[in-house]
Amino acid sequence: MYKINDNYLKLPGSYLFSTIGKKVAAYSAEHPEKQIIRLGIGDVTQPLAPAIIEALHKAVDEMAHAETFHGYAPDLGYEFLRNAIAKHDFQSRGADISADEIFVSDGAKCDSGNIQEIFSTDNKIAVCDPVYPVYVDSNVMAGRTGSYDPKTETWSDVIYMPCTAENGFAPELPKETPDLIYLCFPNNPTGSTITKAQLQEWVDYANKVGAVIIYDAAYEAYISEEGVPHTIYECEGARTCAIELRSFSKNAGFTGVRLGCTVVPRDLKCKEVSLHALWARRHGTKYNGAPYIVQKAGEAVYSPAGRAQLKEQVAYYMNNAKTILNGLKDAGYTVSGGVNAPYIWLKTPENMNSWEFFDYLLEHAGVVGTPGSGFGPSGEGYFRLTAFGSYENTVAALDRIRQL
Ligand SMILES: Cc1ncc(COP(=O)(O)O)c(C=O)c1O
Repeated sequence: MYKINDNYLKLPGSYLFSTIGKKVAAYSAEHPEKQIIRLGIGDVTQPLAPAIIEALHKAVDEMAHAETFHGYAPDLGYEFLRNAIAKHDFQSRGADISADEIFVSDGAKCDSGNIQEIFSTDNKIAVCDPVYPVYVDSNVMAGRTGSYDPKTETWSDVIYMPCTAENGFAPELPKETPDLIYLCFPNNPTGSTITKAQLQEWVDYANKVGAVIIYDAAYEAYISEEGVPHTIYECEGARTCAIELRSFSKNAGFTGVRLGCTVVPRDLKCKEVSLHALWARRHGTKYNGAPYIVQKAGEAVYSPAGRAQLKEQVAYYMNNAKTILNGLKDAGYTVSGGVNAPYIWLKTPENMNSWEFFDYLLEHAGVVGTPGSGFGPSGEGYFRLTAFGSYENTVAALDRIRQL
């Protein structure tokens, strides 16, 4: 009789957003007359920018002719895209990353879930708490996290780094030494960032203890303040200890188009073994590349017109973030985030727990957000709202919340 990977059975409950979806569907069925405003899931709502649509159309037309048709993409991705990423996302910021260190993919979710495969199952991971759930769950599936304690909602073999109001939602160096450190800045869900000096401390620490940092920069485009690093490779020594994940979902609205990339510097080695070579082997064996037309659309993100249009799109969402931040402050809430990230992190009022506040907000304001506890135990008593709605819906949601 065959056996399954029973690590999957250890995963508690269903994925956060399916639970939210079910609750909202049940509420809608009971109250069909009520108009619900969704500021929960971190999905974009603005259409693709004209420069991207134009590139997509052109690439589709190319596929219609034998002379310009494209089949399988090169393993690492097309050079035109890797060159554009290397130049605009790294070299222009003084980060020494070359095009052949960039692996084009269909998004940061897959890469953040898959990257753990090239490491031993004996490795110990450290994660910020709260954080994007994929880091922990993908390690659970791989059997790296020990046993789950439903009381504390923690795994026995995971090092949690609480990010709380007390430490400004910035993780502190762990007491126990990890092998793999997941960092995500600007952070989902707290919207917090750390300074370049703070990130440098992590890089120095990882190099000292022989750990790898898996740095998720999915929200980099939302950084508005000086002194906040846009890539970990702005830090000295990051080439020997860091892998960076990037996404086109939030800076360019590609959530439904699918494009991302992972950077593995050639200097990153475990003794003599190159992690670049391992990831190249994995990529070559298990992945057949993002579609040509999508990579052409990705190239347009870096064109002068694309850059100008996307700057406006990010500004549109950040104006929503400001509306939420100020609206909540006026209404007496304790809030953070929303300055370098499209997420606003609020303390639930009157000691409600995160899910109680979810129900309260849905019931009394018809507004959907995300319970902070879904991102880790330290998220309990917090709630996340996103700036990815339309401006009109954002204003309407805040009016409703003010009237509570
Ligand atoms: C921190 C973080 N990383 C990665 C992703 C996934 O990005 P992608 O759409 O590129 O798969 C998300 C999506 O919400 C995210 O919040």
